[in-house]
Amino acid sequence: MSAKEKIYPESGVELTPFMSKHYDSILALASMGHYPRSIKKAIGNMDIRPDDHILDMGCGTGYNSKLMSAFLNSKGQILGMDISDEMARQFRNRFAEDERVSFMEERIDQPFYLNRKFDKILISFVFHGFPHEVREVVIHNALAHLKEEGSFYILDFAEFEMNSMPPHHRFIFKAIECPYAFDYIARDWKSILKEDGFNSFTEYFYLKNYMRLLRCKK
Ligand SMILES: C[S@@+](CC[C@H](N)C(=O)[O-])C[C@H]1O[C@@H](n2cnc3c(N)ncnc32)[C@H](O)[C@@H]1O
Repeated sequence: MSAKEKIYPESGVELTPFMSKHYDSILALASMGHYPRSIKKAIGNMDIRPDDHILDMGCGTGYNSKLMSAFLNSKGQILGMDISDEMARQFRNRFAEDERVSFMEERIDQPFYLNRKFDKILISFVFHGFPHEVREVVIHNALAHLKEEGSFYILDFAEFEMNSMPPHHRFIFKAIECPYAFDYIARDWKSILKEDGFNSFTEYFYLKNYMRLLRCKK
């Protein structure tokens, strides 16, 4: 989003150029390596098949796509979607030699139309950063672009009560997160997704249960 205006001024997932440039290393350092280790476990829990076609919504630097690509054969494909110029640059550099992985500059918070469907769609640490009505648009985008029986994966904060967090965790969470995240953790996501047409829920937890991979099927 370098020189662009923020779409949702209060959102914490539209990063500054500095944060975008150093996103992976800042998270690794700030979590003392716990965050990238949990991400690796989560991607391992996605049951990726070698010929899967995967959409990575809000793909950032391509860190997760890189981990996913390791499970694919020459028929597997990944499409990364993001709006940040800096993220696009890093994503494209990372996959310059890999024809299976491509990038598209596209907003995921408004309806988009692709003439292809995916076996899996991942949204990782983007979903919590939108107003709730916008999350519904994102869910509908996912539903519209999944093959029948395809899986939607939300890798993000788990559901928890901020007041039940230990004070030092609560302090950090409130300091670094945006108001949309406070709303996100308080919602019952399986019920919401079920109403929107998803079923067969599986969940995995990481980072002291603050992080969850929620899988549901179309
Ligand atoms: C916190 S980062 C997460 C990046 C990546 N998914 C990961 O887990 O490493 C959030 C990403 O969402 C992207 N993003 C924010 N709003 C978006 C939107 N409306 N459409 C597409 N991407 C968006 C940002 O540019 C950024 O790359």
